[in-house]
Amino acid sequence: MTINNERLQKVIAQSGITSRRKAEQLIVDGRVKVNGKVIKKLGTKVNKNDRIEVDHVPITKEELVYYLLYKPRRFISSVKDDRGRKTVTELVPNTDKRVFPIGRLDYDTSGLILLTNDGELAQLLMHPSHQIDKVYVAKIKGIPSKAVLTLFKKGILSKGEKLKATQVKLLSANKQKNTSVIEITLHEGKNRQVRRMFEEIGFPVLKLKRERYSFLDLTGLQPGDYRELTRLEIQKLRDDAMKKN
Ligand code: URA
Repeated sequence: MTINNERLQKVIAQSGITSRRKAEQLIVDGRVKVNGKVIKKLGTKVNKNDRIEVDHVPITKEELVYYLLYKPRRFISSVKDDRGRKTVTELVPNTDKRVFPIGRLDYDTSGLILLTNDGELAQLLMHPSHQIDKVYVAKIKGIPSKAVLTLFKKGILSKGEKLKATQVKLLSANKQKNTSVIEITLHEGKNRQVRRMFEEIGFPVLKLKRERYSFLDLTGLQPGDYRELTRLEIQKLRDDAMKKN
C-alpha cells in the first residue's frame, strides 16, 4: 500500500486490522502513535515514511487484495473453523495476507463471495444501509402462488425478526416433482435469511446459490474457481456502497 498524505484512520483501516470507524475510536482513545507520539486528532495526515503503531504494535502496510470466489457447497465462510471444516480462504492463493470473506454464505450454500484484506471496504459493503443487491436462486419444495411470493416483499416474521426481500420471481416450476426455482434479491444480510423466509411460509429450500453481488456475477467460473477483481470493479463497488448510504 502506498500512502501519501492520507488520513490516519484510513491508513489504519486499510492495514486490515479494523474498520475506519473503529480506527477513529482507537485514535480518540489514545491508542495510536505516529513516529512515537500519541496522536488523538482525527484526520491527521500521514505519509509512507511515518511509523504508525496501534497499542505499541506497528501496523503492516499490506498490499490490498480482492478476490471473487465461486464458493462450492460444504465450505465454511470464515478464516478458521473449530470443527475442522474446509474454509473459503483455502480456495484463494495462500499468501501472508490476512484475507477474509465479506459477509457469509451458509456451509451448504454455493455461489459468489468476495474475499479481501481491505477492512474498510468490507465494512462499507456489509453495512445494511448501503443496500447492495444480493441475488440468490433457490430450489424449493412446493410451488408458491404469486400471492405468497408478494409476502416476501412485505416482510416475513422469523423468530421476532422481520425479513424482507426487494424482489422475488418464479423462474420455473416442476409440477410432477412439486418443486420450483425462485430468484430472490435481498439488501439485508441476516443469518440464513433466504432459508428462514422460505421455511416460515412452508417451502423448505433444497438448494441455494448466490448468483450476483452488486454488479458482479459468476460468468466464466466453476465452483471452487476465483478471480481477482479489476481496479475498476473495486472502484465501482466502493461507489455503489457510498452512493446508497
Ligand atoms: N440466505 C441463506 O439462507 N443462506 C445464505 O447462505 C445466504 C442467504
